Amino acid sequence: MWDERFSDSIYVYGCEPSQFLVEQMQLLGNQSRRVLTLGEGEGRNGVYLARLGHEVHAVDGSVAGQSKALNLAEAQHVSLDYSVADLADYQFEGQYDLMVMIFCHLPLAIRTKVHQQMCEHLAPGGVIIYQAYSPWQLQLGTGGPKKREMLVELSELEQDFSALNFMTCRQLQKKIVEGIYHTGMADVVEMVAQRPLLH
Ligand SMILES: C[S@@+](CC[C@H](N)C(=O)[O-])C[C@H]1O[C@@H](n2cnc3c(N)ncnc32)[C@H](O)[C@@H]1O
Repeated sequence: MWDERFSDSIYVYGCEPSQFLVEQMQLLGNQSRRVLTLGEGEGRNGVYLARLGHEVHAVDGSVAGQSKALNLAEAQHVSLDYSVADLADYQFEGQYDLMVMIFCHLPLAIRTKVHQQMCEHLAPGGVIIYQAYSPWQLQLGTGGPKKREMLVELSELEQDFSALNFMTCRQLQKKIVEGIYHTGMADVVEMVAQRPLLH
């Protein structure tokens, strides 16, 4: 499905980064970070982070997404390390100072495993920025999966990331206009959480 969607010559989620990501990066400040982006797609978020000077490793299952992301990176004079892999069996390696998961909707069992690996591979002091459609999005129909189990409950984030300190963990309705498939009032969950520093 994703390769087909991304075979369109336009960037279907746009070339501008996620507004939520931009807002949160402004709060986090400029220190250089090792970043992992999950479900990177066509590169809008990874390229933005690389332009800020971060070292970005992107993971996504789509070859077409990878190709568009690398073209976007080249056009904006930055580099991205982009792995094509299925998150269902992707083994995280090393530690990251920042992990970004924006509108990467996975079946529940896979999502739980991915959330667990995110916690395990987040460096002390590292931060996760996460945004997804909630199940209430089904009533709004302005983007995202149509299957309820692919949508993320706030309580799930609170539980799966309970080892971290929440800077933000909320569900809200807001206007999201990010490409042709994400347009209109949306019901989302948003989390920013930090791994405690070692003492
Ligand atoms: C709605 S797009 C969002 C892309 C990007 N995060 C953005 O905000 O523009 C969802 C992305 O998740 C990726 N994805 C979905 N399931 C995946 C899986 N099992 N493994 C790897 N990537 C997956 C898709 O290939 C797609 O690029």
